[in-house]
Amino acid sequence: MAALRELPWPAKVYFVVLIGAAGVLLARSALAYDRLDWSTLLVLALLFLVCESVPTLLSVRQAAVSVSFSAALAAVVLVGPQGAALVAATAVLSVRPGLPMVKRLFNGAQFAVCGYASGLAYTWAGGTVGLPVKTDFPEIILPYGAATGVFVGINFLLTALILALAEGVGKRQVPVRNMVQFLVSYCGYATFGLLIAGLWATVQSISAVLVLLPLFVARWAFGQYHAQQRSYEATIAALCQAVETKDYYTRGHCTRVSLASSMIAEEIRMGTERLNAIRYAGMLHDVGKLGVPTKVLQKDGSLTEEEFAAIQLHPMRGLEIVRGIDFLDEAFAGIMHHHEKYDGRGYPMGLAGAEIPEFARIIAVADAFDSMTSDRSYRKAKPIPDAVGELRKNAGTQFDPVMVSAFIRALDRFGWQVRTMPAPTAGEQMAKDHDDPTTPIQVVSER
Ligand SMILES: [Fe+2]
Repeated sequence: MAALRELPWPAKVYFVVLIGAAGVLLARSALAYDRLDWSTLLVLALLFLVCESVPTLLSVRQAAVSVSFSAALAAVVLVGPQGAALVAATAVLSVRPGLPMVKRLFNGAQFAVCGYASGLAYTWAGGTVGLPVKTDFPEIILPYGAATGVFVGINFLLTALILALAEGVGKRQVPVRNMVQFLVSYCGYATFGLLIAGLWATVQSISAVLVLLPLFVARWAFGQYHAQQRSYEATIAALCQAVETKDYYTRGHCTRVSLASSMIAEEIRMGTERLNAIRYAGMLHDVGKLGVPTKVLQKDGSLTEEEFAAIQLHPMRGLEIVRGIDFLDEAFAGIMHHHEKYDGRGYPMGLAGAEIPEFARIIAVADAFDSMTSDRSYRKAKPIPDAVGELRKNAGTQFDPVMVSAFIRALDRFGWQVRTMPAPTAGEQMAKDHDDPTTPIQVVSER
């Protein structure tokens, strides 16, 4: 969401209405001060504030669901709708450096509305506000479930509406897969809220520490894992950038080969760890070009035998370059053998059939498909059906038939976006692509 003045007017109107509605709810809640348990409310507000600040402290990517949700739902049970609204409104004060005031106000207002509405849902469904006692269980689960559903539903609607109205300004799309993840996370955090409320009768505010401390530790560990993943991605991106700078035809090619390889890998039901490795292998399959003289890569016309040998060395060079990067693991085999052919007539080792590592058999299909569907200076891109026809025709000779049919199934399901090559910048040569797996390399004898 952008600054308020940058938003289109419908988004501005919505923002003002939401702030107004939250203001009315909060004023009504504060006016009911004589019915509120202020000591519990203040502890919960402090807890909510700390939790609301945590996603930034942990810098977890896509941490849309913060632990604060648990605190807000505990407030619903312990201090009712008015108390929950006041607790949730403290989101305005969260410690998030750089968070614009418009976002703070929006978060505070929407959480206050969610807190109030879920509190009402809790009481309407038969929940009793205050410290839960032993006899409240398991009946409390139904009203608590209603409160959770209302909180999540309204939170989702209010956020989706502002994003839709602000479309074009900081446009953001949340994939369906992430939505499911968020909903599952919400349900998980909701149980912690009930646990805090349940323990409050015995150990008061310490219940929050007992419940949330392990959660914070788990999130911290998860944050570390994400930081490590990001550094892996940055390493891969830097290597790709280096290859793409050197060889015009690899621009965007590495990313697309990585995507097509992942499609095949998912289709043959590869595990998550290996899926990551094949993604990396696709990105880096041509990294060995860094070890091939630029004048050979960019030579227009046929290659001499020596130059051809230099090109053929790129899979081995690739292995030498990335050998020290531990996390690449099985990707090494994909990089080294991506030019092997199923009938044994490829390079560098002339492996055949199942001797060729699975990663390499996948990348060979992805590499050829992307080359065929991309423009070259000496030929136009083939339409997708023609490229698929070529893959079919060469299945069993150049390509592993299992990987070809897996890719065709994945294409039928997800399609393929053909992207045109960006125009070369000044000084870049539109030379022949000597690593095009679909065109035989032309070699001229030096003698
Ligand atoms: Fe290659």
